[in-house]
Amino acid sequence: MAKTSANLDLQFYDYHPEQSDFYGEVVSGLQATPKVIPPKFFYDELGSNLFEQICQLPEYYPTRTEREILSSNAREIASIIGTHSYILEPGCGSCEKIKILLETLKPRAYVPMDISKDFLQKSAQAISDAYPWLDVHAACVDFTAPMQLPFCPDDEHKLAFFPGSSIGNFEPKYARQFLRQVANMVGAGGGLLIGVDLKKEEHLLRDAYNDNAGVTAEFNLNLLSRINDELDADFNLDHFNHHAFYNADVGRIEMHLISQKSQKIKVGDHIINFSKGESIHTENSYKYTVKEFQRLASEAGFVPVKVWTDEDDLFSVHYFENPEG
Ligand code: AVJ
Repeated sequence: MAKTSANLDLQFYDYHPEQSDFYGEVVSGLQATPKVIPPKFFYDELGSNLFEQICQLPEYYPTRTEREILSSNAREIASIIGTHSYILEPGCGSCEKIKILLETLKPRAYVPMDISKDFLQKSAQAISDAYPWLDVHAACVDFTAPMQLPFCPDDEHKLAFFPGSSIGNFEPKYARQFLRQVANMVGAGGGLLIGVDLKKEEHLLRDAYNDNAGVTAEFNLNLLSRINDELDADFNLDHFNHHAFYNADVGRIEMHLISQKSQKIKVGDHIINFSKGESIHTENSYKYTVKEFQRLASEAGFVPVKVWTDEDDLFSVHYFENPEG
C-alpha cells in the first residue's frame, strides 16, 4: 500500500512500558481481605466495547455532558489556553474527545500516549489521517510511571488533556501524585485541561452505575469471564452479582461483584474461597465539588484558572496552570 503524505506526520515512539502482571495481580487481590481487583483490567476488547456502550446510556451522563461542555466553550477555552500548544494526552484511548478541540486549539503537535501499543498505533494513525495538517507524535508509555519526552521541545507551550473523569479512578493521594507528575511533564507555564465528575444528588450517581439495560453489570461481570479465559479460572457468572452504590462518607461510587453463595473458585494454580455475600471490590469512582478538586490540584502545584460546568452541574472541566518559576 502506498504511503499517504499524512503518514509522514505521524511519528511513533515505543518506550516499552512494562505490561502489568494480570495473573499475579488478580491472585494477590483475591487473596487479600477484602478482595479487590483493579479497574484497569476491565478493558480487554469486549470490556472496551462495553465501556463505549456505557457512554451512550441515558443514565450515564458524564460522556455526553463533557462533550457538550467542551464543544460549547471551545472558543473561550482556546482564548484562555492559547493556540499552537503541544497537546499531550495520557491514556488517550481512541483519541475521540480531542477532536472536539483540534480545529479551535490548532495545536503545534498532538502527543497521544497509551500503554496499549496496537490500539495506540491505530488511533494515532486515524487521527493523523483525519487531520493532515496535524503533527502526531504517539508515545507508547505507562503514564503512571515517571517519563521523559525527548521529542517535546522545552520552549514549547505544553497542555495536558485528561478528559472523562479518569482521575476519579485514583485514590485522592495517588491523584495528587499523578497531577504532580503531569505538572512536571508540562513544565513551568504549561497547563492542564481535565474533566472531573461532580458530586450531586445520590440517585443520579447511583443510576449512572445501575443502568436499566444492565450494561454496567455486564461490564463489571466481564472481568470474571476475562479471568476465566486468560487465567484458567472457573468463575460461574450466574453466581456473582453486580453491586454499585455511592459511598457518601468518602465521596465515591464503589463497584463490587458479590458472591451469591459460599463457593470455591479455581484461578490458575490457586483455590479462592468465597463466603455467601462476600464481595470483590472492582472499582472506585471519586466525585469532587469544584472547590475540592481545585484544592487537590493546588496541592499538586497547579493554579486554578477557569472551570466550566453544564447548566445542571453534572460535570466539570477545569483549566489549571503550572506557574512559572
Ligand atoms: C472511565 C473511570 C471514568 O468511573 O465513570 C463507568 C468507568 N465504570 N461505569 C467511571 C465506569 C462503570 C468510568 N471511568
